[in-house]
Formats: sequence, structure tokens, C-alpha cells
Amino acid sequence: MKHLLKMMDLSTEEITDILNLADQLKYELKHGIAHDHLKGKTLGMIFEKASTRTRVSFETGMYQLGGYPLFLSSGDMQIGRGEPVQDTARVLSRYLDGIMIRTFKQEEVEKLAEYGSIPIINGLTDYCHPCQVLADLLTVREYKNKLEGLKMCYIGDGNNMANSLIVGGLKGGMSVSVACPDGYHPDKTVMDFAKDYSGFKLVSDPKEAAADADVLFTDVWASMGQEDEREKRKIAFKGYQINDDVMSAAHSDAMVMHCLPAHREEEITAKVFEEHAQEIFDEAENRLHAQKAVMVKVMGEK
Ligand code: CP
Ligand code: NVA
Repeated sequence: MKHLLKMMDLSTEEITDILNLADQLKYELKHGIAHDHLKGKTLGMIFEKASTRTRVSFETGMYQLGGYPLFLSSGDMQIGRGEPVQDTARVLSRYLDGIMIRTFKQEEVEKLAEYGSIPIINGLTDYCHPCQVLADLLTVREYKNKLEGLKMCYIGDGNNMANSLIVGGLKGGMSVSVACPDGYHPDKTVMDFAKDYSGFKLVSDPKEAAADADVLFTDVWASMGQEDEREKRKIAFKGYQINDDVMSAAHSDAMVMHCLPAHREEEITAKVFEEHAQEIFDEAENRLHAQKAVMVKVMGEK
């Protein structure tokens, strides 16, 4: 595996390999077994958007693997003043062993990979969030002991999370039902990918999507960069919420997941959130383990 740019690029086998390695690294960390696979290596972490989980889990993960992480805020870099990504890629490739980038346009991440000569990891774009979804699949597998045959439900905006969950869920052998309001559907490339899977369904009714689900996901109504649309989106997404009524349609032992940050009483009620806090914060922890596996896969030998 050379880069992690989007879930679409990964085969089912590669996803399973990452999850298995993540399980192993998690076990080693909990048992004090050293795993300095990236000793002496450096990871540049470019952030053009805010982050709590991604920054801290990559930084800590790199340290635990014996490497050195550099936090690079775009506001302090020449890229923030218009230096082309093609040049940034070629310069940083001379210093670093890998780059994690969180930005707006997916093309920027793809360009970094095209022009650079080191592994690139997508830490979120407007299009997708593959690191999050690998952690999500890891968490579902931990709780349910499998992915294949389970039903995933996603309720809300057809955004970066929806795009990656649909692809990751289907590649993992799950059936995937999504409820989005009109005008907020997942990306066309994802819809084109999903249409070949009989287990995929896009509906407008959240309860219909939640029927017999084993795991339910949601995400914020307004993502980073959409702050100006908040009020308009509050109206468009009314009812696209994980609440007791929606939960009553799912399996009684269904999990609830949220990539965080969450907006209580918007996409999820405080009650459902707290009832499933264990799963949600295990999911947040698993960012660390899943990303360490990704870094070892792309930047080092196991
Ligand atoms: N879920 C997630 O990516 O969180 P941050 O925005 O805090 O990194
Ligand atoms: N859809 C959200 C995810 C945050 C992790 C956003 O892009 O802001």
C-alpha cells in the first residue's frame, strides 16, 4: 500500500489487513510490548482545518511507533499564502518520510501524492474521511466479531463521512442503508460505486434506513467549511436525527457511532448519545490504533 487517499482505493483484503494490524498494535500497546516500526521516521501533518482527534492520535501514534510527528498548520506555511501544492509536495518529500493532510479539496491530496515521492495519508477532505472509517470498521468488528452480513445505517448529510462509510461498509461485506434529505445526497462517484451492490439503499426516511440495523451512524448537519449554511441546514435536516424513535426500528442490540464532534439534539439526542457513549469513545480511541496500522503499512515494514 503506497498511500491512503480514499476508501475506494483499498481492496477488501487491504482493509482486513489494516484492521488485523490495528488489533495487534492495540494489544501490544495495552500489554507494554514495544512496536517501534517507524523508528527514526518523520511524519508531516498539514492541517488546513481544525482537529482534536486526528491531530492528537496521529501525533501520539507516530511517537509510539518510534517516529517523529511535525504539526504543520497551513496558516504558518507558504501553502497558506498560495505556494502550489505541487511544489510543497516536492519540497516536503526531500525532508519527510510521510505526510498526513487535512484539507478541503480531495484534488489537493491527490496532487500531493502525484507530485511527491513519499506516502500521503488523507486526514479528511470535503469528499472523504478514510482514517475515521477504518477506525469505525475496527470498532464494529470489535463489538460484533465480524463485519460481513451486518447492516449499517447512516442518517444525515451525504458528506465526507457518508461517502467513506458507504464504500467502507460495502467493501467490508455489510449492507448499507442511508437516509439523506433531497439535495444532500452522497457524492456521485460513491453512488456509482454503490449501485452495483444489492445491499445498498438510499432512502429519505430515517426510520426506513434504520430498520433492523446492527450499527447506526450519523454526523453533523454542517461540516467544517459550511459554517455559513448552518441555519439553512438546520431546516433541511430537521428529523434526520438518531433518537429513540429511530432506535426502535433497529435491532435491540444495535450500536450507535459518531465520528465526533457531536451536536446534541441536532443529529443525535443527548439521551441516545450517552446510552452509547462507550461505543462512541471506543471508536474515538480506535483512531489511534487504526492510524498506527495505516502508517506502518504505508511508511514502514511491519
Ligand atoms: N473525527 C475527527 O476527525 O475528529 P477531529 O476533527 O477532532 O480530528
Ligand atoms: N463531516 C465532519 C466530520 C468531522 C470529523 C466535517 O467535515 O466537519
